[in-house]
Amino acid sequence: MHILVTGAQGQLGMEFRELSARYPEYQFHFTSRNELDVCNRDAVMQFFKTHPLDFCIHCAAYTAVDLAETQREAAMQGNAHAPTYVAEACTLFGVKLFHFSTDYVFNGKASAPYLPHDPVEPVNYYGATKLQGEEQVMKYCDNAIIIRTSWVYSFYGKNFVKTMLRLMQERDTLRVVNDQRGCPTYAADLAHAVMQIIAQQSFTPGVYHYCNSGVISWFQFASAIAKHMSFNCIVEPIRTEDYPTPAKRPAYSALNTDSFSKAFHIEIPDWESSLKQCLQTIQQRG
Ligand SMILES: NC(=O)c1ccc[n+]([C@@H]2O[C@H](COP(=O)([O-])OP(=O)(O)OC[C@H]3O[C@@H](n4cnc5c(N)ncnc54)[C@H](OP(=O)(O)O)[C@@H]3O)[C@@H](O)[C@H]2O)c1
Repeated sequence: MHILVTGAQGQLGMEFRELSARYPEYQFHFTSRNELDVCNRDAVMQFFKTHPLDFCIHCAAYTAVDLAETQREAAMQGNAHAPTYVAEACTLFGVKLFHFSTDYVFNGKASAPYLPHDPVEPVNYYGATKLQGEEQVMKYCDNAIIIRTSWVYSFYGKNFVKTMLRLMQERDTLRVVNDQRGCPTYAADLAHAVMQIIAQQSFTPGVYHYCNSGVISWFQFASAIAKHMSFNCIVEPIRTEDYPTPAKRPAYSALNTDSFSKAFHIEIPDWESSLKQCLQTIQQRG
């Protein structure tokens, strides 16, 4: 079994890298931007032509939500055009595709976790480009699993948990928004779930949601980090309007993961136990 992981230097890509040691029977091809620029259609086609593949786990994306408001072309390239090329190549070479999208395809006006078929209406440019990416993947590849995920964190890369850890050691008080609610996702859990689908041979195309269970605000997330690390830093709740950002965020972007669990018979860990695991890993590795 040959598995391509694009964007392999990112947080999710790195989790696949780490997990790959548990699957010595599979041949992994981990590519960073230098090895495979997914915005280059010729390079994508050439890679697929010269590497026999069974699965493509497409982790590469333009993920700078605020910068996307001004770097529009780059965001569109990375999140809409690149998935098109990857989807085309998967179809041409008979490769099964895992593609990742976001809770930011929704407008945030819901009061219960979003289902995969709920109406989409992105409130920022990043979300709009990711939605276009989903549509292109569905248009060009029948053999694709699209997984919308949210609030992703990991030992690797840049993320909310690592930023909070740094700031909580530097400051006595931290103000964090309490009126945006959603579901954190430990990238290691998501990578593990994808590998289970491959190992179980239960690949079933469609759009799914994956995040850890439980719905919280960023303030609650930060408070849990402070509690588990026994930091003295005081975390204060603030409103979104007190922390303006270039990109608007949906107020509520919790994802309903039932169809994922049912389709693949995978139990999803709750957010707090996964957070503890990640914090432990960060502490152990320094
Ligand atoms: N992070 C979140 O909170 C979040 C939430 C919802 C959904 N998602 C989705 O989950 C997936 C994985 O995200 P992540 O958190 O792992 O993102 P990440 O840490 O930002 O990693 C993305 C990786 O893609 C690479 N990349 C960007 N453009 C590329 C190109 N043209 N060719 C090759 N590689 C390229 C980046 O490399 P460079 O560093 O060189 O740019 C980076 O290593 C993405 O589809 C993302 O949209 C993430």
